[in-house]
Amino acid sequence: MTRTVATTPFADQKPGTSGLRKKVPVFQQENYAENFVQSLFDSLDGFAGSTLVLGGDGRYFNREVIQTVIRMAAANGFGEVVVGLGGILSTPAASHVIRKRQAFGGIILSASHNPGGPHEDFGIKYNAANGGPAPEKLTDAIFARSKEITSYRIEDFGPVDLDRIGRFEAGSLTVEVIDPVADYAELMESLFDFETIRKKFQSGFRMAFDAMHAVTGPYAREILEKRLGAPAGTARNYVPLPDFGGHHPDPNLVHASDLYDEMMAPGAPDFGAASDGDGDRNLVIGKGIFITPSDSLAILAANAHLVPGYRGGLKGIARSMPTSGAADRVAEKLGIGMYETPTGWKFFGNLLDAGMATICGEESAGTGSDHVREKDGLWAVLLWLNILAVRGQSALDIVREHWATYGRNYYSRHDYEAVETDRANALMDGLKRRLESLPGTAIRGMTVSAADDFAYHDPIDGSVSSGQGLRIFFEGGSRLVFRLSGTGTSGATVRLYVERYEPDPSRHGLDTQAALADLIAAADELAKIRSHTGRAAPSVIT
Ligand code: G1P
Ligand code: ZN
Repeated sequence: MTRTVATTPFADQKPGTSGLRKKVPVFQQENYAENFVQSLFDSLDGFAGSTLVLGGDGRYFNREVIQTVIRMAAANGFGEVVVGLGGILSTPAASHVIRKRQAFGGIILSASHNPGGPHEDFGIKYNAANGGPAPEKLTDAIFARSKEITSYRIEDFGPVDLDRIGRFEAGSLTVEVIDPVADYAELMESLFDFETIRKKFQSGFRMAFDAMHAVTGPYAREILEKRLGAPAGTARNYVPLPDFGGHHPDPNLVHASDLYDEMMAPGAPDFGAASDGDGDRNLVIGKGIFITPSDSLAILAANAHLVPGYRGGLKGIARSMPTSGAADRVAEKLGIGMYETPTGWKFFGNLLDAGMATICGEESAGTGSDHVREKDGLWAVLLWLNILAVRGQSALDIVREHWATYGRNYYSRHDYEAVETDRANALMDGLKRRLESLPGTAIRGMTVSAADDFAYHDPIDGSVSSGQGLRIFFEGGSRLVFRLSGTGTSGATVRLYVERYEPDPSRHGLDTQAALADLIAAADELAKIRSHTGRAAPSVIT
């Protein structure tokens, strides 16, 4: 039986770059999740009788919201819900299942790399039929609808058994519980040369993959250990836990520091990697070298032709604006298109759909290709493994060779987290006001060549996204970028991205922060970061 339940709007349901993200207690308010899901359904057209894909990263509150979404999907007229066993689906796997099943779309429950638990983060995001994140037009519509919603529709049936694979009826709906790994593993097998990677492991190659108690555990065990024959224990922290074991499932040098330390110590495995809460980010560390995501994108793009899925070459490369220009040099050498988009994976969707780009990446540990419409952590790891197996060199040698060929883009991101919103805005506004006057000014011996507030003109749909970050370019190819995070859940996060290009191989061995010291100091002079934020240092440096 379908019920229409009266409700009143919440004012704070504006989806950010990755859906609606709030603390669990916010989502636990009566009707909160229901309002948002109904606002989403009200903003979609023509889904009667069609399929909705559903899953999450297993964090606290996942199962409850899965049950709610199933009952609301039934009441709103979907014909079928395809849900991962135990309510689990990684973001890239969900993207693939949406595409493979030609579903109408999918709902993914995750707050990505943010911590989970009763007082931590939760999130709901919607992906469209192409498997990619909802476009801005849709998220705007959802927000507008959420402010005027007066009722939602829900069907009355008991909890669906999420722990048994199979197809069954639930109210007016068909529910299919699927193995969350199978389709994805098959896709990976179609892209990569598993035989060659298997031989690499047989020859004694050792790897450490940290699933961070998040969603990629089951995927890594199946693919790395079972299908590729990596020794048991290659995947660690592989049981997804509702609170990620009390850690941030964020594969960076702060939260995956154990892995980093191990990779830098004597006796390190040959290759280390980690992924985040919902499986779309990746961290890759060679024995003795951390590979920045920006470098990783460039190196993967330069070597992709060695791998079956990309043997025909790349159509183009896309990167988010703050990501370093390392990949630009690869695109230039390959003679293919290079696209610079605003932060957020959704901006790659049109380029991928139009066949203009094959590989995309963001400095925030996101890399992916046209195989799905999300960034994909394990995919990046497998691409690295395949390249390592074919080239027969260490990751360190491959990185050094790459720098020698293309030059090195020293790169770092400084985050000032949970800054009071007013103070963060004052910092950005102050700098914005001065942008026009900056070109020609010298700071610490470096001359500003250009400065702007980045705006993106989508080459396919003509849409314009402005206000995407303040850029300050210096003569010689250095760059500072300032932007506010769109995904934080408390206060504002100021991100400073620092980049310096160094063509000379004899200067490729510097410590990154030291190599960028002048630019970092210039950033503070320009934006008065310390006085605006009241912080002596960033909360996180990556
Ligand atoms: C962050 C990253 C961005 C990524 C997004 C979702 O967004 O910087 O690259 O697409 O998370 O994973 P931000 O908090 O900077 O808005
Ligand atoms: Zn994520």
